[in-house]
Amino acid sequence: MIYNFSAGPAVLPKEVLQQAADEMLDWHGSGMSVMEMSHRGKEYMSIIEAALRDMRELLAVPANYKILFLQGGAIAENAIIPMNLSALRGGAQPGVADYINTGSWSVKSIKEARRYCEVNVAASSEAEKFASIPARESWKLSHNAAYVHLCTNETIDGVEYQFTPDVAADTNNAPLVADMSSHILSRTLDVSKYGVIYGGAQKNIGPAGLTIVIVREDLLGHALPICPSAFDWKIVADNDSMYNTPPTYAIYIAGLVFQWLKRQGGVAEMERRNIAKAGLLYDYLDSTDFYKTRIAKDSRSRMNVPFFLHDDSLNDIFLAGAKERGLLQLKGHKSVGGMRASIYNAMPLEGVQALVEYLREFERTH
Ligand SMILES: Cc1ncc(COP(=O)(O)O)c(C=O)c1O
Repeated sequence: MIYNFSAGPAVLPKEVLQQAADEMLDWHGSGMSVMEMSHRGKEYMSIIEAALRDMRELLAVPANYKILFLQGGAIAENAIIPMNLSALRGGAQPGVADYINTGSWSVKSIKEARRYCEVNVAASSEAEKFASIPARESWKLSHNAAYVHLCTNETIDGVEYQFTPDVAADTNNAPLVADMSSHILSRTLDVSKYGVIYGGAQKNIGPAGLTIVIVREDLLGHALPICPSAFDWKIVADNDSMYNTPPTYAIYIAGLVFQWLKRQGGVAEMERRNIAKAGLLYDYLDSTDFYKTRIAKDSRSRMNVPFFLHDDSLNDIFLAGAKERGLLQLKGHKSVGGMRASIYNAMPLEGVQALVEYLREFERTH
């Protein structure tokens, strides 16, 4: 049995891959692979419409929000967001955007946004090496911020918001903009608390190449003149995500994942399982000095669990032994070191149990 702990692109449900394999050469008697279909044909339209409908249902996305399917990944969105939102308050010049710095992905978002607008880093945990989410009371928000940006799950550092910040009163109602690349659909979510939710698909949704943007309708139509048309959210929304050719096959697989999620019992059931899986792993890591975690308990990610052996010189032996047991891609990100287990929706409880069993055995034998 193989268990893939990759941070992304990441494990997908076996059932989904099997269905895609079965339908690869001839989708539903159409005589075509999904990859070969015109994105405007009736077969493909039924696929994208179902995917949009199912995603809306899974996240209970309110009617005044658009779901956009784009390309470019979350890193492209780091530029696309200020291009669409920094002039939200009106005026010829882009305004100031507030960013909360909680890890490697926030750092990247901030750096990119600075190319387009003024950035105020309203709070940062960088000085403590991103070991926790800064308390909401400590944020120094701008009174007239165009928007407030956060990364609600830091994939590399392993920190996750366990609260939804309210920023309206301090910012004259600035919208919250959240990079949810690595935990969207892993927990229930009140979409109405956010102006924009975005992320790459390659963790909990499907293959790389698809980028999701969920945007409140009143935030459309404010793009800077320099914004490429294909990334102007209003143009994309007005064209039902077909202004340019969307990543058709990635959307098809995402649609199969959405159907799989519905069969499992939806996002609330995934959250229940994810709490159980993360609890099992953290409880074991906490129970011994052989392994260490760095993240404050109230900020720990349920999706990405970085951990360290007490003796770094054992890392290669640990990884080789893990691989022998079918526990793959456990090496930590190079900027953090150590190990990282990413335990997304498609990772079964049995995978985490197998990992904990190996952790215990490795500790006993080393
Ligand atoms: C939280 C987060 N933001 C942004 C990115 C970058 O995504 P992409 O490489 O798809 O642009 C990643 C991913 O790998 C991520 O985990």
